[in-house]
Amino acid sequence: MTTTKLKPDWAGDDLLSRLVNRAIQTPALYALMKRQARQVLIKTAEKKGVAWRQTCIDLDTPEMRQRLDQLTNPAVVYPDYYQVPFHAYSEGNLCWPAAFEATPATYAMALRIWPQEDLTWQEAQARLRQSFLTVLDQYGPAQVNDILDLGCSVGLSTLSLHRHYAQKASPTNPVRTVGLDLSPYVLAVAQHQDAEGEIAEWVHAQAEATGFPDASFDLVTMQFVAHELPRSATQAIFAEATRVLRPSGALAITDNNPKSPVIQALPPVLFTLMKSTEPWSDDYYTFDLETALVAAGFEPPVTVPSDPRHRTLVARKPDR
Ligand SMILES: C[S@@+](CC[C@H](N)C(=O)[O-])C[C@H]1O[C@@H](n2cnc3c(N)ncnc32)[C@H](O)[C@@H]1O
Repeated sequence: MTTTKLKPDWAGDDLLSRLVNRAIQTPALYALMKRQARQVLIKTAEKKGVAWRQTCIDLDTPEMRQRLDQLTNPAVVYPDYYQVPFHAYSEGNLCWPAAFEATPATYAMALRIWPQEDLTWQEAQARLRQSFLTVLDQYGPAQVNDILDLGCSVGLSTLSLHRHYAQKASPTNPVRTVGLDLSPYVLAVAQHQDAEGEIAEWVHAQAEATGFPDASFDLVTMQFVAHELPRSATQAIFAEATRVLRPSGALAITDNNPKSPVIQALPPVLFTLMKSTEPWSDDYYTFDLETALVAAGFEPPVTVPSDPRHRTLVARKPDR
């Protein structure tokens, strides 16, 4: 599932990448690409039965606005890298459309991983989550009670992670899972979708400064977050993860795999759309996560190509 090429030619400083970047920086073209990216996503999803537009209508309620007020931490400071257009939303993740569309967009993303197979969106989503959990079962900590899901968005990653460990836990030694995100909008949707109240807390904070005590978690995860960050933010989050993890605990990351032949061979329209809606792509695809994890104090991580497009890394915090 990997090639010897370390990253796609369309990312970084290669000629192709620079040409794409120039196209994206042309305002009229950028506006067109944003519309295109949105239409591709909605079309793929609705064709496969994801109720994209209906989901957004259903979520748009006064109750959601109350949740936003309750969950917003007024002390949070938004870093500059976060206050940029993202995923075709001019306010990035800090708006209702981003939050309402996150669930159907996540279902659409999973459907694109196995295009040759006629999977339902439920099957694709379950397979995506399971591929991460399978790597965790093999390389993650043996005992997991306290879990922190960084960049939890609308909680799909948090709930699947929680349920996986909760089903293995004993009643006397339960699992406590926290979802944390910098957007209070997505947290409002996450809390609403957590209908049974399975998640202990939905926290509005920077993943770089979670506010949790030292050594308070066994497992910290970043699922599809790093590709949305400049490397300086990822490095700061790694430092925070080492602080809040217990000795022998682990940080698990899953995200786009720069070595994936599928990612490297994306058609020009697709990689241009991707770059036009994810401003830190070049930084992500040229950043050596393994070296950065070791620099942050982790043991050398295990990296597994967990599906045709994504890799999962598990890095342990040393015993002492
Ligand atoms: C693609 S979404 C993650 C999806 C989710 N983990 C899943 O697997 O379904 C990335 C999330 O990271 C959040 N995020 C980005 N930078 C962050 C930061 N510095 N601190 C906390 N959350 C951040 C965004 O608000 C967004 O909700």
